[in-house]
Amino acid sequence: MGFEILLSVLLIASYHLQYGNGRMILTMKDFISDSNSTNVDHSQAFQNAWRALCGGKGKGRAASFVIHAHETYTIQPQLLQGPCISPNIQIQIDGTIEAPKMAKDWGTSECWLCFEKVTGLVLTGSGVLNTHGENWWSSVGFSSRPEAVRFFDCHNILYNGLTQINSPRNHISMFDCTNATLSNLHLNAPENSPNTDGIDISHSQNIQVLSSTIKTGDDCVAIKGASYDINITYVTCGPGHGISIGSLGQGGASEEVQNVNVRHCTFSGTQNGARIKTWPGGRGFVKNILYEDITLINANFPIIIDQQYHQSSQATAVKVSDVTFKSFKGTSADATAIKLDCDPTTGCDNIVMDHINIVSSSPRTPLTSYCKFAHVISRVVSIHIDCDFRNEDSQPASSHPQPSAPYAISSTPHTQPPAPTTQPPLFFPFYTNFNAFL
Ligand SMILES: *[C@@H]1O[C@H](CO)[C@@H](O)[C@H](O)[C@H]1NC(C)=O
Ligand SMILES: *[C@@H]1O[C@H](CO)[C@@H](O)[C@H](O)[C@H]1NC(C)=O
Ligand SMILES: *[C@@H]1O[C@H](CO)[C@@H](O)[C@H](O)[C@H]1NC(C)=O
Repeated sequence: MGFEILLSVLLIASYHLQYGNGRMILTMKDFISDSNSTNVDHSQAFQNAWRALCGGKGKGRAASFVIHAHETYTIQPQLLQGPCISPNIQIQIDGTIEAPKMAKDWGTSECWLCFEKVTGLVLTGSGVLNTHGENWWSSVGFSSRPEAVRFFDCHNILYNGLTQINSPRNHISMFDCTNATLSNLHLNAPENSPNTDGIDISHSQNIQVLSSTIKTGDDCVAIKGASYDINITYVTCGPGHGISIGSLGQGGASEEVQNVNVRHCTFSGTQNGARIKTWPGGRGFVKNILYEDITLINANFPIIIDQQYHQSSQATAVKVSDVTFKSFKGTSADATAIKLDCDPTTGCDNIVMDHINIVSSSPRTPLTSYCKFAHVISRVVSIHIDCDFRNEDSQPASSHPQPSAPYAISSTPHTQPPAPTTQPPLFFPFYTNFNAFL
């Protein structure tokens, strides 16, 4: 151990000091002691670089650690722990960092790049983080798989530009964080990869996800308990399970989520679109949620509130209220385009449907809604919603032509579902082109 510290001190003393934009620039080469390029593990060099960066090297100047384009390094899981001396540190990755290919070479860490107690980090670049999760999915159970990038107790974070490939579990998780912007990210894992959420946000406030594409085997974004003031804007999701609030209330937990805006997002070939899911038996609330300007391309369950997530009957539920779905357009792959499956005792209050124009992606297929125990206000909605709170055995909407007050209120008359011939042909070529482009 003493030798290791001495070695790092010697290495740090020998930086090739470079300055760019007034910043001191550190590179991997400053920390690689062994120039043997077949030496494949750069964990120690990476950790030493982090310690230099976070430990305030650069004599008061802001510092950047840069991995240049065309450089590739393999590193084991890293704890990147603060607090750091400078409130303004930067890691720029234009090359590639990979995790060990085999799961057994990871050790027991719960995450690969684990940022903890760091304030004021900019993590940026045009590079790639490849975690080789494909070697975990079939061999290790979900609960024992690590996350790719975790921010725990981190604040004032900008994470921009990188591509993440094949996480063993969530690609990004934020827990106990405030004031973070995640932008221009590309998160990629196959549609059938298990539990590979894009971004999970829990116990966090003031978080923005902007202009990103997320293609994974589970939720594109999942917003979990104790989170509020979250904006998700210009995100393209699919394949994936949608942009979800929840699941909340598992095991009787009391959880709260509020003030979430999901705007200008596209769901393409997803299993769900705008989704709120809660477990029976939970407590707490989900309120003040807006999904606005949403484009659907062959998405299943474009709008879904599911309070029977993992069915069972319980006396309590997480209360869902003040949820607006506004300006949805496009195609649904499932005949049930709107599903509001609320808890019989708590119900869902003030669910607003405003300018919803969804057609089937199959020709000549009418769309229906399913609604139980929700108080719905609809304005210009292409699918008839009939929600009869008082009748537990109510059938899907199509068999109940008369809405029953007070749980289905139309402030303007329903527009009829569009006849098949009026479906905009636009979506089919667009969908084809979209896939060809990917
Ligand atoms: C380079 O590293 C590899 C793997 O650690 C080792 O087998 C090889 O002998 C080293 N070569 C030199 C020239 O040090
Ligand atoms: C939020 O984080 C950004 C980026 O680090 C920073 O510029 C801004 O001042 C922070 N805002 C607050 C209120 O701390
Ligand atoms: C989210 O959007 C709202 C409305 O545009 C804005 O007032 C708020 O500051 C935004 N919050 C974040 C965390 O970006």
